[in-house]
Amino acid sequence: MSFMMREILDQPRALLRCYQAEHNHVIELKKFAEKQDFRMILLVARGTSDNAALLGRYLLELTTGIPVSLCAPSIHTLYHAKLDLRKALVIGISQSGEGNDINTVLKTARRQGAFTVGITNEAKSTMAGIVDDAFFVRAGTQRSVAATKTYTGQLLMLYMLAAALGSHVKLEHVGEIPKWVASSLEIIPEIRQIVERYRFMRQCVVVARGLNYANAFELSLKLMETCYVVAERFSAADFLHGPIAMIESDFPVILFMPPGKTYADMKKLAERVRKLRADTLIISAEGVRLPGHTNSVRIPASISEVYTPIPYIVPGQLFACLLAELKGIDPDKPRSLKIVTRTL
Ligand code: AGP
Repeated sequence: MSFMMREILDQPRALLRCYQAEHNHVIELKKFAEKQDFRMILLVARGTSDNAALLGRYLLELTTGIPVSLCAPSIHTLYHAKLDLRKALVIGISQSGEGNDINTVLKTARRQGAFTVGITNEAKSTMAGIVDDAFFVRAGTQRSVAATKTYTGQLLMLYMLAAALGSHVKLEHVGEIPKWVASSLEIIPEIRQIVERYRFMRQCVVVARGLNYANAFELSLKLMETCYVVAERFSAADFLHGPIAMIESDFPVILFMPPGKTYADMKKLAERVRKLRADTLIISAEGVRLPGHTNSVRIPASISEVYTPIPYIVPGQLFACLLAELKGIDPDKPRSLKIVTRTL
């Protein structure tokens, strides 16, 4: 079995470990945050960790009311801009904790007055040593080049930080997430069957909206790095501003459609691309009345929308891993990639 598949399957245990180990630490941060007056949150990361940051951008802004921005590292590392970051909380996210650009931003932000937090899987990493407060994903060593268990662990940590920052996200609900991820893993046989149809897929689009928008980025990245599929990702709103023109008969469109605020919009889009004869693969939940589609995978759990991103990426991870194997590609050896990539 590939490292990628092992790490996907290990997620319920890894998430529970992270939740239990960081629970009291998060309560400490909550006490500290109550005394601060954070006026903005900046998230800084690359690759899959940046996709986790994108979830953080939606989750933290939506549930805490504090404006959140994704940091452009070049503003700090290439342009050396002088920013006033007093009253800013800057959160760096990195599996390895060794992204040199991310760490440079964290150091600079601290000098510019920000309180810095790191979310990393590596307790002995550079990131862990330079931030004001470090939270550990505790997913165990990542051996797969394609990040899976560390992505969901980073998301889990962001939910826990949301709870610390006074949002309506409750720690006890976050504690349910490992169980929902276990439900998502139950549908491996269905995904294995569906994947056959996509054996020769060379291109596709992945569409989502709101809290699952980050998952559209993450599934696309997994399809690009493990299956060499040209996978573009869009919000359902942006998709109508041009990209829909690409859709023709049998063009694969993957849609994240959890029940909740984004569902009606996603449904309209699914119907529209279906009329254009696209091949649609919908990721949703059991019991949801879906519009016409080619294929669907349904998570056997009823989850409130705010908590869907972690369980909903799991079918996507499985799809990418199984598709790579079917295409004869070793998902643990993506071309031209290593676990740690250094950029500025
Ligand atoms: C993940 O699937 C990728 N291989 C890659 O994008 C990775 O997430 C990125 O290089 C960031 O690494 P880091 O989290 O260790 O900083």
